[in-house]
Amino acid sequence: MKGTSYIIIICFVAISVFYAGAQERIFDIAIDRPIGEVSPQMWGVFFEDINLGADGGIYAELVKNRSFEFFRPMMGWHPLGAPVEGALLVLNRQEHHAKNPRFLRVNTMAIGSSGLGLGNEGFRGMGVKAGVRYDFSIMYRQHVPGISLRLELVDSAGIVIGAGRLEPAAVTGGWQQQITSFHATATHPKARLNIWFEGNGEIDLDMISLFPADTWQGRPGGLRADMVQLLADMEPGFLRFPGGCIVEGYDLSQRFQWKKTVGPVEERQMVINRWNFEFKHRPTPDYFQTFGLGFFEYFQLAEDIGAEPLPIINCGMACQFNTAEVVPLDQLDTYVQDALDLIEFANGDTTTTWGRLRADMGHPEPFNLKMIGIGNENWGPQYVERLAVFQQAMKNRHPEIAIVASSGTDPNGDRFNYLDSALRNLGVDIIDEHYYRPPQWFFDNAARYDNYDRNGPRIFAGEYAAQSVAIASPDNKNNWLTALSEAAFLTGLERNADIVTLASYAPLFGHVDGWQWTPDLIWVDNLTVYGTPNYYVQKLYSTNKGTHIVQLTEKGDTVAGQRDLFASAVVDKKTNELIIKVVNRSDYPIAIQLELSGADHVAQTAVHVEMRSDDLDTVNSIEAPLAVSPQEREIVINHRSPRVEVSPYSFNVFRFKI
Ligand code: AHR
Repeated sequence: MKGTSYIIIICFVAISVFYAGAQERIFDIAIDRPIGEVSPQMWGVFFEDINLGADGGIYAELVKNRSFEFFRPMMGWHPLGAPVEGALLVLNRQEHHAKNPRFLRVNTMAIGSSGLGLGNEGFRGMGVKAGVRYDFSIMYRQHVPGISLRLELVDSAGIVIGAGRLEPAAVTGGWQQQITSFHATATHPKARLNIWFEGNGEIDLDMISLFPADTWQGRPGGLRADMVQLLADMEPGFLRFPGGCIVEGYDLSQRFQWKKTVGPVEERQMVINRWNFEFKHRPTPDYFQTFGLGFFEYFQLAEDIGAEPLPIINCGMACQFNTAEVVPLDQLDTYVQDALDLIEFANGDTTTTWGRLRADMGHPEPFNLKMIGIGNENWGPQYVERLAVFQQAMKNRHPEIAIVASSGTDPNGDRFNYLDSALRNLGVDIIDEHYYRPPQWFFDNAARYDNYDRNGPRIFAGEYAAQSVAIASPDNKNNWLTALSEAAFLTGLERNADIVTLASYAPLFGHVDGWQWTPDLIWVDNLTVYGTPNYYVQKLYSTNKGTHIVQLTEKGDTVAGQRDLFASAVVDKKTNELIIKVVNRSDYPIAIQLELSGADHVAQTAVHVEMRSDDLDTVNSIEAPLAVSPQEREIVINHRSPRVEVSPYSFNVFRFKI
């Protein structure tokens, strides 16, 4: 006991000496008077298939263009050996099978000893791991049985690092599916798949696929476990999907139609990904949406990571940065029906058409959908008119579902002002605001919601990301300055969590070899994944969200940037903790005296989680994934009069037991 007292005294002395050089501030925190509840859904995830987020990313399929439906049907594929004319033929059965018209006919009967094969380059190569099982599958139709498939995974030097064999059954007639598995013998980030056709015969092939077996929850044809794990680690309250501009499409024919993304994967009609050609400086000609990750899988993912699903549906308008096509108001029915049917797909019982499909896909229980977004970044009266039609139909049929509506591309200006007031007049439940702004904007707007109307719609900070250079600039970086500015802004969201009930960073994923948009929350290559400083900032908010907001003031004012500090506080009634977040954007340390009302003391030890870097340009990377990341330690404090210290350029979370 005596020893413990000495240690505590030494700690006090050490801390006091440390404080000597720090500026002094005093925060008043009213623990006993919560000013609102924090929504359990508050901090979530925004998913869009951009930057190879889905195909080539979280969707673990390794074969690119598995069904030959890209514009150039052989994109991603190359012949091996010495094919003679007609040995590999792309056929199109558009009249009979509009959803997946193309397939490949392989005829080896005129091939000599040089052999015939087909190679697939994967999405910027294939990430292959030693010891992992790989499941290769095809759909095939025999004409002249006799061909068997010899499979090779090869590294960049052509060395075989995995081999298997598939002997298609000698049945003639309709299409069959067959699977074979083999293990990789080495790890390689950019492997390729070779398929050698051995023996004489003629066979049709489609849906040529290769998946690792170590997917999330081991689901066949599933998702990359490492990428999902980073999402799960955030303990997200919601998952917004599938976008983003991808919902709108370049034109209406390319809009996201959820019904085309459910059911058997070979029946899901592929479309070009609008990020394929959006940016001239980052063209991605091999970017398509196969919808292997479709709406069923999105709902399942949300459930897996404990997040509420928040689907966004097309409102009858194509992207206004592109064609800006709109559906005539009197022809909106199909679009509205899509929204109503989506609710049935998610929540309907298994006697309903769409509820039955959900059950057939393996999920008889409902997905408990509670909110739905109508439109992404749409604007103008044409949006409001269409939204009103949706709103009426939804409220008549499903008043239990909250409607999320977009206030457009910007957080201020004429477009925003018009929409904000129109949406309030319509009485939508939640307004989705987007902010892609410089770091300074985030610092300057930490008090944005302090005086927002408490009687109007709730706010969804649906897409936020500080841009280090300019919006959509390829030079933007996820550096510490951007993350620090977001941490400052998020104190304002937390302080106003009674009105701002959802928040997510955007975009979510970026593939180091295949991105179109930067900055992004999480970066990946074919084998690894790392969180940016921005990821850790939002994760700290999410995993320390508490249950109730409490008032934190300095000289009677909220702490929203005065003399370089930003702060907010919550209590967690489940764990009996006071949780304080503080951002110090200055280049000097600051000591803060915490005057607590409503508790005469806190526990003598507390937890301090700190993110800091003296260099605001610091970024995380595949080589240094934790360069700026949370460091947690226990601190000893004066439990009747706690005092803490925040370092220059730091984001801090303090947890006190009360
Ligand atoms: O997050 C990238 C894009 O930014 C989204 O698709 C869109 O909603 C916004 O303009």
